Amino acid sequence: MMDLEALKSDLMARIDAAGDVAALEDIRVSALGKKGEITAQMKQLGGLDPEARKAAGQALNALKDVIAGALDAKKSGFADAELNARLAAEAIDVSQSPRPRKVGRLHPITQTIDEIIDIFGQMGFVWAEGPEVEDDWHNFTALNMPTDHPARQMQDTFYMNGHSGDEGSLVLRTHTSPVQIRTMLKEKPPIRVIVPGRTFRSDSDATHTPMFHQVEGLVIDKTSNMAQLKGCLLEFCRTFFRAPDLTLQFRPSYFPFTEPSAEVDIRCDRSGGKLVIGEGDDWLEVLGSGMVNPRVLEACGLDPEEYQGFAFGLGIERLAMLKYGIPDLRTFFDGDVRWLQHYGFEPHLLPSLVRGR
Ligand code: DAH
Repeated sequence: MMDLEALKSDLMARIDAAGDVAALEDIRVSALGKKGEITAQMKQLGGLDPEARKAAGQALNALKDVIAGALDAKKSGFADAELNARLAAEAIDVSQSPRPRKVGRLHPITQTIDEIIDIFGQMGFVWAEGPEVEDDWHNFTALNMPTDHPARQMQDTFYMNGHSGDEGSLVLRTHTSPVQIRTMLKEKPPIRVIVPGRTFRSDSDATHTPMFHQVEGLVIDKTSNMAQLKGCLLEFCRTFFRAPDLTLQFRPSYFPFTEPSAEVDIRCDRSGGKLVIGEGDDWLEVLGSGMVNPRVLEACGLDPEEYQGFAFGLGIERLAMLKYGIPDLRTFFDGDVRWLQHYGFEPHLLPSLVRGR
């Protein structure tokens, strides 16, 4: 039998010096494996007399346990060290500020459209849209503006190349009203749509840009009436401007596609050199509206004896300027990031009726 104490201290020294799990495995194989040193000693037990075999067997088993225990202990030390290193490397500083990174801003036009859709959506309107390149029939004729109608000249129309205002011409739509026609041709009443979109007119000065945005509203049913129109618009203006006591004034007006037609003003106060919406003795025009002209219903194949309805159209830039105090229309389209940082909105805040600026 070899000197087990010497074998033990040799193995313990090697375990102590092992630098990784693979080195430990080598030591295990060389001591406890099939051809290992301790295993070899075990094999010699058979040649000893019973007394000596018992003593040597016990000593070898004890050594085996010590070595196996030392290997395990060292191995789990390596595992702990590895885990600690990983935890340190992947640590997240939970005390760090959760303030969102700036990823850009929503343009006030986008925000205002969202708010308008949100408010009318709560009244049961559904969103609709139509093409920006429109044909003459949808943009004018079906809206009761035949080719020779003077109202066509009022809207400085952009014609597509090679088109000049004859029947069948293609235009950049001058308003969102053609979507009224497209909706009535496609859907059976009751209809309740709200239509935001880009519109175009050949006009450019301090208060006009060649591209701007409108929202169109259309309600068609058997008994829809002007009182409902007024109720809808009042509810909209009070909610949009957050002015619960705001009042409206309906001024008789003319649009070919509505009869009667009205322009709608909201009450405001300009006395202090500052515009306050919802109170005071002044009026500010915000939108056009009226009862859908029976000729428009007829153009869409609806019987005016059976159906009636109301429509309205409003300019989005104007509403945004009034609500958010933006003084200059042209800045909407300058693409200036500093302007957008100032007047834009956080993209992850959903529009809501209760949120203030
Ligand atoms: N389309 C009109 C314009 O661009 C606005 C308008 C007025 C729309 C009256 C309507 C309406 O639906 O009823 O000036």
